[in-house]
Amino acid sequence: MTTHKTRIAVFCSGGGSNFKSIYHAIAEKPLNAEIVLCLSNRSECGAMEFARENGIATVHLTEKQFNSFDEFAAAMVKRLKDAQIDIVLLAGYMRKVPDAVVKAFPDKMLNIHPALLPKFGGEGMYGLYVHTAVLDAGESESGATVHFVNEEYDKGKILLQRTVPVLAGDTPESLAARVLECEHRLYPEAVEKLLTIQKS
Ligand code: GAR
Repeated sequence: MTTHKTRIAVFCSGGGSNFKSIYHAIAEKPLNAEIVLCLSNRSECGAMEFARENGIATVHLTEKQFNSFDEFAAAMVKRLKDAQIDIVLLAGYMRKVPDAVVKAFPDKMLNIHPALLPKFGGEGMYGLYVHTAVLDAGESESGATVHFVNEEYDKGKILLQRTVPVLAGDTPESLAARVLECEHRLYPEAVEKLLTIQKS
C-alpha cells in the first residue's frame, strides 16, 4: 500500500474561502493528501495570509516579474515540479493558467466556477459578473461547478455540479453568497472524488 500523500497546490487571488474549506476538510478526514503550496498573483490577499498562518509555502507569481509570458509559464511549472505537486486546485484564481502548466498536469487540475457550466462561463465570467449574468438571464437556478482544467476557459470536463435556487429579490451579492456556501461543500467533495479516481 502506498503511503505517499497527494501533494496539493492551490491557486488563489482573493479571500481564499474555498482554499480554507478544502484545508479544513483535509484536516478532518483521512484523505491522505495535504496542501503544501499556495500560489497567487497577489502577494497580499486572504488566501496568502491563511497559508502563511498555517505553515503552507507561498509563491507570489505574476507575468510582470518576467520578460515574457513563456518565461512566466516555465517558472510556474518549475515551482510546481520543485514542490513535487501532484494536483493543482484553482480556488478563486482570477488569471488564465498558462497552457504549459495545464499540459504539465493532465487530469490533475481542477477549477471551481460559481455557476452551472457550460452556461455563464468563459473569459470575463468571474466573480459578480457571473451572478449578474445569471440574474439578467432570468434563471430560476444557479449553482457551482467543479471541472477539470484544459486550455480553454471553463470548458474542461465537469467533475461535480450542484444547484442552488435563485430567489425573488436576489442581487448579485446575495446570489454570490448562496453559491459560495454551496461551493464550500462541493469543492472538498470534488477533491475527494479526484483522489479516489486517481487511486483506482
Ligand atoms: C468563488 O466564488 C469562485 O467560484 C470564484 O471566485 C470566488 C472566490 O472566492 N471563481 C471564479 O469566478 C473563477 N472564474 P474565494 O477566494 O473566497 O474562494
